[in-house]
Amino acid sequence: MTKSFDAAAAVEGVSLDIEKGEFFTLLGPSGCGKTTTLRILAGLEEPDRGEIYLDGEPLTVASRGLQVPPEKRRMGLVPQSYAVWPHLSVFENVAYPLKLRRWKDPKMRQQVSQQLALVGLAGLEDRSATMLSGGQQQRVALARALVYSPVVLLMDEPLSNLDAKLRDQMREELKTLQRKTGVTVIFVTHDQTEAMSLSDRIAVMNSGRVEQVGAPEEVYDRPLTPFVRDFLGTNFVLHGRFVGRECCNSLRLEIPSPEGSSAVVASARGARVGEPETGAPVAVCVRPEHVTLTSRPGETNSIAGIVDSLLFVGDRYECRVSIGADRLLVHVPRSQKPEVGEKVYLNLPKEGLTVWPK
Ligand SMILES: Nc1ncnc2c1ncn2[C@@H]1O[C@H](COP(=O)(O)OP(=O)(O)O)[C@@H](O)[C@H]1O
Ligand SMILES: [Mg+2]
Repeated sequence: MTKSFDAAAAVEGVSLDIEKGEFFTLLGPSGCGKTTTLRILAGLEEPDRGEIYLDGEPLTVASRGLQVPPEKRRMGLVPQSYAVWPHLSVFENVAYPLKLRRWKDPKMRQQVSQQLALVGLAGLEDRSATMLSGGQQQRVALARALVYSPVVLLMDEPLSNLDAKLRDQMREELKTLQRKTGVTVIFVTHDQTEAMSLSDRIAVMNSGRVEQVGAPEEVYDRPLTPFVRDFLGTNFVLHGRFVGRECCNSLRLEIPSPEGSSAVVASARGARVGEPETGAPVAVCVRPEHVTLTSRPGETNSIAGIVDSLLFVGDRYECRVSIGADRLLVHVPRSQKPEVGEKVYLNLPKEGLTVWPK
């Protein structure tokens, strides 16, 4: 799908294939097109170009002007703002989609009560929506989206208005709820932790485009673009040169260090440089949690550095080590406390490195 507002493209050539029962997340910074994508799926927005199918049934085919209305899409939407109607009771809020579909009591009342129980709001039917906490409003919005048993549940940053503790709790509950109902979830967030902990697969979006789709471990460990690499987790860059290929296509690199230079090998899976020329400058990226610190040089992929600073953060030290002009953050266990100014060796695991053009 592609969609522009005025002249600027909000969503450009986004193409996704989402499995039944999957927890699928659109992850990206503010303004990258997540909400627009979700609204196009829900039928609230028409794409300029594109097609949407659910179980093979066409919902949108722009070239034919086909646009199935939102209430006929078998999709429930939890909008970013919740959009709970304050002048209505909890019951009336949740029953609204059923009224739209001409449900009658007692079937309607029974269905609403069942959904309220599912989201932990049993017995609150008659409460005015103005008397609800943020967490309760969020649950009402969820019950309202689920009440007509949609095949797909669309959620737009549903946890971002909650405080940290409630957010953790709701994260667990969402996962349980999905397991119970088997509904396919398409979830939107800018929060990488939320995305990684909840999702079966993640689509990382940037400026209206999808840069990578994969399981959380895959996008985290094997980013395909610099944007994905830098958006998920922390990365540090060491500058070096490409020396040549080894067995299994591993990359042999040389990185300047306080001891002249160190040889480092990166596995072929981490290569994002194509076929560089010998001596070409490269950027070697590593995550803090992959690096271990030793007081003596190791046999391979061991590089000397000087401890610049040490921060105690409770369960570990966060240690900054300088290697020539580059600085690396390393997580050091409490039992291994180094001294500031000390020379140490960093072990860079071959599998944990990605190598990029400089
Ligand atoms: N109704 C609209 N009119 C004009 N521009 C819009 C409209 N909705 C979204 N946009 C623009 O489209 C881009 C993507 O927005 P959005 O999908 O809301 O991003 P996200 O949800 O990822 O923050 C932004 O540049 C935004 O300003
Ligand atoms: Mg948004």
